[in-house]
Amino acid sequence: MPHNPQISSNPSKLHLFPDAEQASLYVAQQIAALIRQRQDQGKSAVLGLATGNTPKLVYKELVRMHQHEGLSFSNVISFNLDEYYPIIPEDKHSYTYFMQKYLFKHIDIKPYNIYIPNTDSSADRIPQYCRAYEHKISGFGGIDLQLLGIGRNGHIGFNEPGTSFHATTRLVNLHSVTREDAQNDFGSITNVPHQAISIGIHTIVQAKKILLLALGQKKSDIIYQAIKGQITTQVPASILQSLPQAEYVLDREAGAKLDEERQ
Ligand code: PGA
Repeated sequence: MPHNPQISSNPSKLHLFPDAEQASLYVAQQIAALIRQRQDQGKSAVLGLATGNTPKLVYKELVRMHQHEGLSFSNVISFNLDEYYPIIPEDKHSYTYFMQKYLFKHIDIKPYNIYIPNTDSSADRIPQYCRAYEHKISGFGGIDLQLLGIGRNGHIGFNEPGTSFHATTRLVNLHSVTREDAQNDFGSITNVPHQAISIGIHTIVQAKKILLLALGQKKSDIIYQAIKGQITTQVPASILQSLPQAEYVLDREAGAKLDEERQ
């Protein structure tokens, strides 16, 4: 598959593809390879999954692999990064709904192996719920492969600018850029929740492998800052620079500013 890893000062971390489809295919193949490797070892594969526009083609490819290449998800345990608060799982804007629609209802993952923050509970029970979510993840030995998108403000999960790198799963306030970017999905900005439950940056950095996928021209500025800028809590994704197990997977548009620098 054509990709050009030469544009980074740390080439092994960066994979640049001509288009969104090829970038997504690469990510799906990494996920499938992990699942199959674990099956051969008689073990589970613990996936950290993301929502939003970015992973849709990855999920489409995984569904295709399940339907046409016999890829089974029967050994997969999945943890989603985040969920709006408050929202009921049946709401079509919920990430539970999203995951069912784009992935889970098409594959053979066992329903009891699916974990998505459930935010349909009273505020006083949230801290306890968040601690339990963390314990679940560590109880399975941590996340083997974490898929991430990136917000235009540099967030990963709903860890917004200014979030401590030590944060774990908790209730967060959504940044104005995040709410703005969600308004099309919700029909209007006033319908977009102000809060969410998100796993923390501390939780994310413990994953054994991390793939940050970024697609499209709207991501090119923040990708440049996240990869070439300082490591700062103001750009949460910048923490990945320091992690040997993290890779950036970009289409040409998202990598455009990095590419410009080479010329
Ligand atoms: P998007 O969101 O995939 O819809 O661009 C990514 C994110 O906010 O993490």
